Amino acid sequence: MTYARIIGTGGYLPENIMTNSDLEKIVDTTDQWIQERTGIEQRHIAVEGQTTVDLAEAASRLAIESAGISAQDIDLIIIATSTPDKIFPSSACILQARLDIHGCPAFDIQAVCTGFIYGLAIAEKFIKTGSSKNALVVGAEIFSKILNWEDRATCVLFGDGAGAVVLAASEETGILSTHIHADGKYENLLRVPYGIADGYDQVKAGKAFVEMKGNEVFKMAVNTLGRIVDETLAANNMMKSDIDWLVPHQANIRIITATAKKLKMSMDQVVVTVHKHGNTSAASIPLALDVAVRDGRIKENELLLFEAFGGGFTWGSVLARF
Ligand code: ACO
Repeated sequence: MTYARIIGTGGYLPENIMTNSDLEKIVDTTDQWIQERTGIEQRHIAVEGQTTVDLAEAASRLAIESAGISAQDIDLIIIATSTPDKIFPSSACILQARLDIHGCPAFDIQAVCTGFIYGLAIAEKFIKTGSSKNALVVGAEIFSKILNWEDRATCVLFGDGAGAVVLAASEETGILSTHIHADGKYENLLRVPYGIADGYDQVKAGKAFVEMKGNEVFKMAVNTLGRIVDETLAANNMMKSDIDWLVPHQANIRIITATAKKLKMSMDQVVVTVHKHGNTSAASIPLALDVAVRDGRIKENELLLFEAFGGGFTWGSVLARF
């Protein structure tokens, strides 16, 4: 049986760091409020001119290098992003050209914070059906460009970054199952309310920013992530205690802690980067994975649970042996 196995990881964060004290100078907030409600201490923010594909390229080169293959071996490129460089070509096509890869399929997917999980789920199908042997799956975002920097309820939460993995066809166990879902009826709780349908004027007038009813999103996220954990374990006939590492989407430390509690997992088995990265949307899971692989916490053959919830609403999980 052919599995899709993660053989390389990479991550990139812009050098520019914005601390909570920096934010205190911009909006009516405090370091204490941000840390208590979210766990976030700082986030990385792209400098003028730095784009989503710039971050994606840096993360991808590291992932390809750590996989021990050449860029020419990649035969599928997927970027999960809600902040593409352009309307078209897709960020994946721009990345493909930068990596000097020609001919393989390359496309973006948009599932906001669940985007990387969607990307893994799609790439796994390509690999299992024999359509791809080495897939590059990237989560990359510059959320700082779609934030209203006068809205303290949202601008303190997000950061910029990119994470990438190389998934390879393997006879060794890799991804065991993927679970992706969506329900579009909650648009009013989390969205960027303007886009192409409204014309560029609205976008230019500074209306195309993230809007969120944080409290309601929070409750939905905790309940939904609890259910996806049950769904994933049941599909694999596994117990909570089988999981070695939880690598969750990094939106809020309180959401992460609630999921760990549901799994009866010690926080020592949870990869947490939200304090340093903020919420980097589709980039948060591959960034967290890369951190824990490179610092030696996650080791070969361990069982990893990835899970995410985000705008759409979308949510999902992936269970994988590393
Ligand atoms: N600084 C100080 N006070 C603030 C700030 C701030 N930055 N932001 C809001 N407040 C105030 C509010 O105005 C409110 O004041 P009031 O009581 O006088 O009205 C008070 O703090 C409490 O506000 P809540 O929104 O109820 O605070 P809550 O405890 O829910 O925390 C938060 C807010 C952090 C946004 C939380 O709800 C959350 O994390 N939600 C989920 C976010 C998430 O998971 N998003 C999904 C993925 S994102 C994506 O897909 C793009």
